[in-house]
This record gives sequence, C-alpha cells and structure tokens, in this order.
Amino acid sequence: MESKKICVIGLGYIGLPTAALLANRGYRVHGVDVVQKVVDTINEGKVHIIEPGLDSFVQSAVQSGNLKAHVTPVESDVFMIAVPTPLAKDNKPDITYVISATEAIAPFIKEGDLIILESTSPVGTTEKVRDVLEASGIDTGKVHLAYCPERVLPGNTIIELVKNDRIVGGINPAAAQAGKEFYSTFVEGEILTTNARTAEMSKLTENAYRDTNIAFANELSILCDELEIDVWELIGLANHHPRVNILQPGSGVGGHCIAVDPWFIISSNEDQAGLMKTARQKNLYKTEWAIGKVKNAILQFKEQHSREPKVACMGLAFKPDIDDLRESPALYITSRLMEDGLQVIPVEPNIETYKDWPLQAYDSALREADIVVYLVNHKEFKALKPNGKQVIDFCGIR
Ligand SMILES: NC(=O)c1ccc[n+]([C@@H]2O[C@H](COP(=O)([O-])OP(=O)(O)OC[C@H]3O[C@@H](n4cnc5c(N)ncnc54)[C@H](O)[C@@H]3O)[C@@H](O)[C@H]2O)c1
Repeated sequence: MESKKICVIGLGYIGLPTAALLANRGYRVHGVDVVQKVVDTINEGKVHIIEPGLDSFVQSAVQSGNLKAHVTPVESDVFMIAVPTPLAKDNKPDITYVISATEAIAPFIKEGDLIILESTSPVGTTEKVRDVLEASGIDTGKVHLAYCPERVLPGNTIIELVKNDRIVGGINPAAAQAGKEFYSTFVEGEILTTNARTAEMSKLTENAYRDTNIAFANELSILCDELEIDVWELIGLANHHPRVNILQPGSGVGGHCIAVDPWFIISSNEDQAGLMKTARQKNLYKTEWAIGKVKNAILQFKEQHSREPKVACMGLAFKPDIDDLRESPALYITSRLMEDGLQVIPVEPNIETYKDWPLQAYDSALREADIVVYLVNHKEFKALKPNGKQVIDFCGIR
C-alpha cells in the first residue's frame, strides 16, 4: 500500500524538520515554500537554517526520494501549515501568511483530508481557516481541520518533535481524533485532544507563563545589581526551596515565541491582561537597562583612560548555541551601540555574516577588547578567560 502524502507548507525552523521527520518515517512529503532559494537548497539535500542534526536529517530525507520541495502545493492526504505569524506594528498578530497558505492549499483539498495548522496563532484562527476553506467551496464537514501547536526548543528540535507531548485541538471532536491518529504515527509523547480554541490558547499561555516568570528574574537582576548581590548565586540558593523555581535573567527576552506570543493574548483584552503586559514591558526594559549599563561603563573607561574603549559584544542570537537572531535582545543591544558610533566588536560564532557588520572570531575579539559584554551564554564563551578586561555579564556566563 502506498504511504500517505503529506504537504507541509512553510519550510522554516518548524516546517523543515517536520517535513524531514515525516519523510524519514516513510511518508511521501511535498514541502512547499514561497522562497525559491529555500526550495532549491532543500532539493540539493542542504539546509538554509542552523539546527543541530538537521543537515543530515534533511539529506537522508531528500536522498530517500520521500522529501521534495516545491513552490506550490499538490493534492495530498494531510496538509500541515507552518508559516510565520509575526506581530504587526501595533503589537497585534498578523495572520495573513496563514490565510494565504490556506488559500493556496484550498484547490488541492479533497474529501477526507486532514488539515493541520501548526503556526502559533491567536484564538479563533482555526475558525478563520475554516471560513477561508468554506469560501473556497470546500465542505468543511467533509474534511478534518485541527490546530496543533508546536512547542519544540530550537537547538533540540529533532528530538523534541518526537518526544514532546502534543495538543491537538479539533474544529470538532472527529477532527481532533483524526489529528491524534496522524501524530501518533511519529510522536512518542502523549497526545492530548481538545477543541481548537483551547489548543490555540494553550500555546500562547505556555509562552506568556514563561515570559512572566523571566520578567521576575529580570526584575531581580536589576535589584541585585543595585544591591551588589550576585543574582545567579541568589537564584541558585532560592531554588533550593522545594517549591521555588526561578528562571534565569538575561539581556531581555528574544526569539519568535516568548517575546511575541504574549502579545497575542494581551492584544485580545488589554484591560484583563495587565500582569502579562507588565511582564512583557519589564523584559523590554531589561534590554534598555543593559544598554545603559554598557554606555556607563564606556563613559567611565573614557574618563579613566582618555580614549574610546573597544567593546566586544559576545553573542547576537536570542539564546545559546543557535543562529536565530529573531527578536534577539543581544542583536538589538549591539546594533544600538553601533548606531551610536561606539567601537563595537560584534561576535556571533553561529553565523558567518550579518549585514555589513565586522563580525569577529570570539578569541581575537576577546584579545582586542577593553570591555567584554556577555550577551549570550554560547558554549564557546564559557572557557574564555577575559583576564584583565572589564566584564559585563548579562547572561550568567560561568
Ligand atoms: N521557531 C520556533 O522555534 C517555533 C516554535 C514553536 C512554534 N513556532 C511557530 O511556527 C510557525 C513557523 O515558525 P518558523 O520558525 O518555522 O518560521 P520560519 O520563518 O523559520 O519559516 C516559515 C517559512 O514559511 C515560508 N512561507 C511564508 N509564507 C508562506 C506561504 N504562504 N506558503 C508557503 N511558505 C510560506 C517562509 O518563506 C519561511 O521559509 C510560527 O507561527 C511560529 O510562531 C515556531
């Protein structure tokens, strides 16, 4: 019997590993991306993003003949949508990519197909997808439509795609069941079913919860700085309490999920989401505070040495050991310092180039710098010995 055909729409950090996983499990996968270069790269068995193990995973999927990338969809048994859902300027979610992906697959959907939205989405988006399908002439009573949020940790995606528990929210119970049956063919974690709205809110809730807890750690870090207390030691000690688990502070909160998703809730009801809004603002403030700290250190250095210091900004990614710069506070801090004409040495071991920035290797940057600012806890930085340098540590490198 021929294996099911799966159409994965959007071949980025989520869609590409998912497409490769399904292909390696024997499904015939038709990957779709609107960017021709992405499609060409994948068809060569290569990857356009950095994720540990993804290159060989994609290579084997392509070599097996089970994964092919295209710019347009095709008739399939399952359609998975994993396109971006960015924030618009007014901090409201932009679901236009989801809508256009839905419009693109609509002509290829037949009775009995399973359509899954994986993109992080504001509550009600799956219902909007249903409306778009209906408007395209599809009887949504005869297909299965479900929302299944992705909650992998970048850097550990390939393992977590299989191991994590999953929530499948059906537009009706039959769709939830159909989604569960499909995911159970490749997920080892528990698969929990609910309705689409609850599944949408669950993803947003998970990230708003983390954002709020990181805001607590960031607030502590500012207070501790003034009180001359090592915040990482403090948190380590406090976490010995059996019911306390404080997260780690940093230079802010970045990435496509935690820094973004709380707005999907806040913008739906600003009056009732005051705590989440304050947390979001606190995390944004931490980044501004960090910029102020570095600028003060530069001023002091100038006063003491009568020259401009060279400042190594160690790390640009939004978290350790990845190349993802989206919503990165480290990138933002570095660019703000560069915009001010300060002598900045940007360092990011996980990328080769960024715009026209003079990226430098971490060891030579360390040698050259007067002030070393640790922005990201990359593994390469941990063994460095910035002897004799002024160190500003926003990420607890130790
Ligand atoms: N990256 C993560 O760690 C992560 C984790 C959980 C959830 N998510 C969510 O998953 C979704 C996808 O995120 P991502 O990180 O994979 O994004 P991404 O930007 O890495 O990839 C999205 C891809 O979709 C393509 N695309 C855009 N519109 C398209 C269309 N109409 N048809 C086909 N392709 C299209 C883009 O060219 C891009 O290659 C987002 O909603 C995100 O919030 C991401």
